[in-house]
Amino acid sequence: MEILIVDGGGRLHGDVRVDGAKNASLPIMAASILISGDACINRVPDLVDVQTMSLLLQSLGADVSRSEGTLQIDTRRVTGHHADYELVRRMRASVCVLGPLLARFGRASVSLPGGCNIGHRPIDLHLKGLTALGADLRIERGYVVAESTQLRGADVFLGGPSGSTVTGTCNVMTAACLAKGRTVIRAAACEPEVADLGRFLNAAGACISGLGSSTIEITGVEELASVTHTVVPDRIEAATFAIAAAATRGSISIHDVLPSQMTSVLDALRAIGVDIQVAPDRVDIATSGDLTGVELAALPFPGIPTDTQAQFMALLTTVPGVSVVTDRVFPDRFIHASELVRMGARIRREGASVVIDGGGQLTGTSVMASDLRASAALVVAALAADGESQIRRIYHLDRGYAHLEQKLTRLGAKVIRR
Ligand code: EPZ
Repeated sequence: MEILIVDGGGRLHGDVRVDGAKNASLPIMAASILISGDACINRVPDLVDVQTMSLLLQSLGADVSRSEGTLQIDTRRVTGHHADYELVRRMRASVCVLGPLLARFGRASVSLPGGCNIGHRPIDLHLKGLTALGADLRIERGYVVAESTQLRGADVFLGGPSGSTVTGTCNVMTAACLAKGRTVIRAAACEPEVADLGRFLNAAGACISGLGSSTIEITGVEELASVTHTVVPDRIEAATFAIAAAATRGSISIHDVLPSQMTSVLDALRAIGVDIQVAPDRVDIATSGDLTGVELAALPFPGIPTDTQAQFMALLTTVPGVSVVTDRVFPDRFIHASELVRMGARIRREGASVVIDGGGQLTGTSVMASDLRASAALVVAALAADGESQIRRIYHLDRGYAHLEQKLTRLGAKVIRR
């Protein structure tokens, strides 16, 4: 089992380029099932989750090949409609094949995702939306079995107790592309990755408007055609590097990003006291002045992404003052707190939040990752800590960050994988 060894205490400095967004790439790959042709997708990150989605598409009969950052997906020979538990249990985003399989073939059998370390992750809203489009859905032996002779447009509210659903919006929007008539998705997810999926579908001949807003309209078409698309930058990877730079009191430039998709993250970093400069495709981070604790809450877009909450928590343990972190999307997404405490952080849970008494010196030690973003938080903490840390179960990290240790090493960090 590989581990990451981090010799902390140095400041990050220099330049880093982020990859294409994982959370846009995965639903776009799944949506390629709708197209009986070729999908050429550029800037797809080299991630374990992308490999898993590729395996899932191949298990359905698609041809998937990769050259550098470009994926070529040919779905002409897709005949399968069964997404097996063995693949779905590795990656929840597998559920994104449900909508396209149903829309193109009129049937789908997709394993329920199963448990997850960041909290309860139902798919009731996915099923609500697909049922509204006329699908017959039932749960059989841990699988969602869906059938439909012809999907029909519908007006559906897709909000849940924690707000909108990202992959639920992806599933319903994708299925609606081939439904008869007009679909309106209300309380749709506004995340940039959902909008990027919509642009991919429109480029293939779909008719979608309202992308990026909470009301998305889709007018069904007969079929979609081959398409070429470039994935948006990964704003979560960019945020992770920005937060790591602040945690080490360093100065870095993050290239090939869209600052307009990171306003909540940059606003929070400015409130902490980090110097931020932006250009159309670049963010410059510097930490010259004193930093101070803040209160922040993870919310659906445009709020602070829940996928940056753990990383912010790691940073705030190093910042003098009291901070409060709340996650309104995944209220129990705090497993990483106990590992940070082992590094000397002063954190206590108070109801739906954690309270951080920040400013103490973190000390390197052996810690264990529990999920993708928790492992990123441990890397941030280890970079800031005094001494060496060993981070175990870094297979979690490899799901969402490509070549992380190489990128950090180029920023001056002392990180090796063993
Ligand atoms: C997507 O997951 C992302 N994954 C997650 O990123 C991200 O944390 C999450 O959106 C929130 O932004 C991908 O895009 C592949 P949701 P998703 O459906 O779609 C509740 C990462 O680290 N809900 O938007 O599964 C749910 O319990 C991953 O890259 C329902 O109640 O999340 C949660 O509280 C982790 N019913 C909230 O909505 C449903 O049917 C948001 O979940 C669906 C969701």
